[in-house]
Amino acid sequence: MPLPSVVLAADLPPAVVLAVLTQPSDGGARLVGARLTGDGPPGLAVDVDVLLSREAAKGEAGEIIAVPVPGPGPLERVLLVGLGDGSPPALRKAGAALARRAKDAVSLAVDLRAFELEAPALRALVEGLLLASYRFSRKAEPKVRALQDVTLVGPVGQDELAAAVLVVTATAAARDLVNTPSLEKSPEWLADSARTLLTGLSVTVLDEMELRRKGFGGIVGVGQGSTRPPRLIQAVYDGGGSRHVVLVGKGITFDTGGLSLKPNDSMLAMKTDMGGAAAVLATLRAVADLGLAIRVTVLAAAAENMPSGSAQRPGDVLTQYGGRTVEVLNTDAEGRLVLADALAYADRKLSPDVIVDVATLTGAMPIALGKRVAGLFASTDELAEQLEQASTDSGEPLWRMPLVEDYRVALDSPIADLRNIGRPKLKLSGGSITAALFLREFTGGRPWAHLDIAGPARSGADEDELTKGGTGYGVRLLTSWLTALSASPAATRASA
Ligand code: BES
Ligand code: MN
Ligand code: ZN
Repeated sequence: MPLPSVVLAADLPPAVVLAVLTQPSDGGARLVGARLTGDGPPGLAVDVDVLLSREAAKGEAGEIIAVPVPGPGPLERVLLVGLGDGSPPALRKAGAALARRAKDAVSLAVDLRAFELEAPALRALVEGLLLASYRFSRKAEPKVRALQDVTLVGPVGQDELAAAVLVVTATAAARDLVNTPSLEKSPEWLADSARTLLTGLSVTVLDEMELRRKGFGGIVGVGQGSTRPPRLIQAVYDGGGSRHVVLVGKGITFDTGGLSLKPNDSMLAMKTDMGGAAAVLATLRAVADLGLAIRVTVLAAAAENMPSGSAQRPGDVLTQYGGRTVEVLNTDAEGRLVLADALAYADRKLSPDVIVDVATLTGAMPIALGKRVAGLFASTDELAEQLEQASTDSGEPLWRMPLVEDYRVALDSPIADLRNIGRPKLKLSGGSITAALFLREFTGGRPWAHLDIAGPARSGADEDELTKGGTGYGVRLLTSWLTALSASPAATRASA
């Protein structure tokens, strides 16, 4: 469903809901607010200060006091929205809370005239508002009344607004890809969807025959149990600049576990297992729309992990792109197999300055970090710091994890170059770390980061800017990182 459209205006337009932003002054209990008399809606005389103190409002981020408006005009409600400390995270929360309260309003005017909000805070407000307005439905009769038009009244720059709308539009595209049921979402469908999403950019797709011929044994091995064969999607945006970034996404369109079958409860949400691919494809859309001065290649490794008479077996040995062999001891550790092919291909054929992969890789990651935070593994501190900065700027949380060298031996196999799960005899847990160490083997020593998004790729509920289902995690983070990278001098190139 389309996102609401957002426009700027100098004066309050007629609207169904009017939001007035409120902020505590001096961190105390007293609140300041725009007076709705005077330049407020005609006929409505409310002293916001009096109202807020009567309601014992604290002005916390996302706190909302609703004032019903009687009378014949279009205005049905005035919402007083708390802005907390006025920081971007507070504004993102406030924007999301506002969108939820105004979700049936059709038109919403947001009065920003009482505040001097900095550009990042304004952006966060718009992002929160739009992200929380996202809807996905396969109902026969979708809801008719929904928020359609948002007018921002006050000192908002057109460029900030455009940048916020663009990154949310890309995030919504990623959420749509994730939320699409796997009945529809085959690897071929994902490739077709990538072509549609990335109209105007170069998109090439390798089918199963070409993958076999060129030696992508990981993607072929994982995909061979399905009647719907795998694909490798490659898309390029070249905005010039001195750096070439390769983004790799895990695109398992459904993960049953294969012959190492998952129990039903663990399988339920596995249409999300292409969330990494969705994030990198949508990021490329945002990067191209922003016209960043950088070259970005996206690789999405798409396969459906199914059990069948043609599926790979535990104990099989496959040959990854580039020639290394892997003993597949658990067919449910399939993400690293498809990613290894894509990473090796990036290293050997694309000569990137830096590689970042994004994957719903391990169930152990949300056990360590919870559902909201992604795990970051990075081969250099500089790259880790860049991504941590982008996380702070974009509001997509991550936490750096260690690549523990002592655990590397757990991946040794007596008959192949590697095994695809850590050796249990060593009694090593840390499954997210061994998975990352497996991936690192295929990066050719290039600067590389791995984002394990198994937790934050989906949300169990509408919460803040997230909506239940696919979150599009990674789009804001990577777009923010690439924006900063494209603007920074090439001095950092050698290590970036
Ligand atoms: N796609 C799963 C990881 C996952 C689990 C993502 C839960 C989101 C929520 C991945 O392919 C997987 O099955 N990993 C196994 C690896 C194990 C067999 C070594 C896991 O984490 O259990
Ligand atoms: Mn799996
Ligand atoms: Zn998986």
